[in-house]
Amino acid sequence: MNILHISASVKTSGAAAGIILMGMAQESIILVPAAEADLPAMLSLFDDYAQRQLMLPRTEADLRANMGNFIVAKSAEGVFVGAAALRPFGEGYYEVRSLAVARGFINAGVGSRLVEALLAKARALEPPARCVFALTKRPNLFRRLGFRLAYRERFPAKIWADCRQCPKYELCDETAVEYRLDQ
Ligand SMILES: CC(C)(COP(=O)(O)OP(=O)(O)OC[C@H]1O[C@@H](n2cnc3c(N)ncnc32)[C@H](O)[C@@H]1OP(=O)(O)O)[C@@H](O)C(=O)NCCC(=O)NCCS
Repeated sequence: MNILHISASVKTSGAAAGIILMGMAQESIILVPAAEADLPAMLSLFDDYAQRQLMLPRTEADLRANMGNFIVAKSAEGVFVGAAALRPFGEGYYEVRSLAVARGFINAGVGSRLVEALLAKARALEPPARCVFALTKRPNLFRRLGFRLAYRERFPAKIWADCRQCPKYELCDETAVEYRLDQ
């Protein structure tokens, strides 16, 4: 996977396996495609936040089946820092899913860099992606990166796949945001 477009607001340099980011984070962060070895750390991170109802739970089988969607952030020493997935929904629509950064690294720009890397991945797709969207409790993070507010009804496949199973369906506390790549 090529991660080519990283915000100019951070100093970047190429690395063998990805891009080294030397921005707000105290130490260099590398973004790379997820590998099988990252699975335990990903599961642990998602479990932690799912138990606090900050994100939907993911099973090991689910993650294994969708590893190709994920990128992970690691420190220069190889310590797992966070992860996020670009989930295809068909017709050029992709969702930012399972965005999470380990507690010791939050508010250091890693989450924003993960979203930017997913946008770069979407831009490089063939056939071209039309739209990257998210349902999020952190709309400001996405809006800072160029996403706009949207109605969640614009994403019926997402609603059918996940929202209808969600206990908060009628009282959803997430905001839909979208980044159009086709306009
Ligand atoms: C949500 C989450 C992924 C954000 O990761 P993060 O690495 O802390 O994100 P960043 O450091 O890029 O941004 C965090 C905060 O730093 C500040 N910040 C980051 N970049 C900034 C910039 N360029 N200018 C000003 N403030 C900035 C903002 O206060 C921002 O919070 P906001 O986006 O809500 O306004 C992380 O908090 C997390 O894992 N939360 C639990 C799981 C979760 O909620 N996942 C669902 C997310 S949709």
